[in-house]
Amino acid sequence: MERCDPRVAASRGALSLLEELGLSSGIIGLGTGSTVTAFIGEARRYLGKFKGVVASSLDTALRAAGAGLRVLDPRVYRGVDVYVDGADEVELRSGAMVKGGGGALLGEKIMARASSLNVFIVGADKVVEVLGARRPVPLDVEPLYLSMTVRVLESMGFKAKLRSGAPGKRGPVVSDWGGVIVDVETGPISDPAALERELELVPGVRASGIFTGLADYVVVGYDDCGWRVFKFARRG
Ligand code: 5RP
Repeated sequence: MERCDPRVAASRGALSLLEELGLSSGIIGLGTGSTVTAFIGEARRYLGKFKGVVASSLDTALRAAGAGLRVLDPRVYRGVDVYVDGADEVELRSGAMVKGGGGALLGEKIMARASSLNVFIVGADKVVEVLGARRPVPLDVEPLYLSMTVRVLESMGFKAKLRSGAPGKRGPVVSDWGGVIVDVETGPISDPAALERELELVPGVRASGIFTGLADYVVVGYDDCGWRVFKFARRG
């Protein structure tokens, strides 16, 4: 039996879905991470049909430019026609996700909200029964009052930890958008939408890694090279 990297299988599935939907013009938004990198590799010719790419991070912008694609300034465009991104955890019951493993959650969330169609691509290992049981939820936090924001989060009962240990950088991980990445341990999340709201109401939190109501489609890739497409009713 043929074996595949599940991220490549999901990328092929997304490409076939987007072609089926007849989407190959306008502006495409791209998230960040190894699955998006696989998508750029698999879909390079297809991506070239778009007017250009708006990237959610410098990493993706450089990869897209390296693939010969035209990279557009995110400050200028009011939205994208389609947005493709990965995720760290996905709950297939609702399409809710945890994102931000690559620290790019702020740009990712803004673009997913301002996109006409969102397709998330994941390997099967990212599918979970309940979000939050395996890994913390990333937050992009205003740096100036960082310690006060962390204290408020702790007073709400969360264990909050500044992300650090990025190769070549001492101290906290600072996002491309100037925020400090704070990982909060939530434990299993019974109501992702409520927790997303609660976290984003904390002054100083610019975005939480909980993404609810934003998926139109989730494409899950498997190591036998197959994929499955899941459709959701988008709310945001
Ligand atoms: C980056 C993200 C990524 O989509 C998420 O971390 C998944 O990454 P990968 O495709 O490398 O597993 O949210 O901020």
